[in-house]
Amino acid sequence: MSSSFLDAVKARRTIYALKHESPIPDSKIQEIVKQTILHVPSSFNSQSTRIVVLLGDDHTHLWEEIVKPAVKAVAPAEAWPQSEQRLNGFKNAYGTALFYEEPKDILKLQEAFPLYSENFPQWSEHTNAMHQFVLWTALEQEGFGANLQHYSPLIDDKIAAKWGVPGAWSLKAQLVFGTPAGEAGDKAFKPVEERVFVHGAK
Ligand SMILES: Cc1cc2nc3c(=O)[nH]c(=O)nc-3n(C[C@H](O)[C@H](O)[C@H](O)COP(=O)(O)O)c2cc1C
Repeated sequence: MSSSFLDAVKARRTIYALKHESPIPDSKIQEIVKQTILHVPSSFNSQSTRIVVLLGDDHTHLWEEIVKPAVKAVAPAEAWPQSEQRLNGFKNAYGTALFYEEPKDILKLQEAFPLYSENFPQWSEHTNAMHQFVLWTALEQEGFGANLQHYSPLIDDKIAAKWGVPGAWSLKAQLVFGTPAGEAGDKAFKPVEERVFVHGAK
């Protein structure tokens, strides 16, 4: 099994120890995000995904001024020190990609194809996740480490106000990335035979 694509898939890992540095110019990050959004497929070619990228000081603002206060407001007091440490880890990174879905694009498809109306919301989630995976893998190919976070809906309104994100967009995930300052943790694998079933192979 040798293909550069699968090598990239295998190399992608969750990295939490990240620096406020980038191995590549910001212009290259932007190009990778554009290529991701152009070429990742979507259900019925909905192109419903939106990606907002926060770099440098904007990234820091997100974690220090928006996520931290939002989590602190709901975290039990005794849990906060540990949460704060975790959030500092994300803040110390270089950038965050925010993955959204545009509900109008989903609604249009539901109106155009009533037979599949109930399926489109789920397919929208699938579509968004594919973008997350491709960008995560592509950034790590460039020498970034990255991890995927979920702080919606706690942070949605503040982000919308600060960066002019349409309020209707639905925030699905936050991909945090920076130059790695540590390795991925150990990862256990369930036996493949318990998870893959092939019938009719020659
Ligand atoms: C859909 C999805 C949601 C995830 N959500 C989180 C998350 O909220 N916080 C986090 O630290 N990691 C999150 N992860 C990372 C997983 O824990 C991680 O991918 C998994 O343990 C396998 O490790 P690896 O990424 O190093 O291969 C998520 C991963 C996926 C695919």
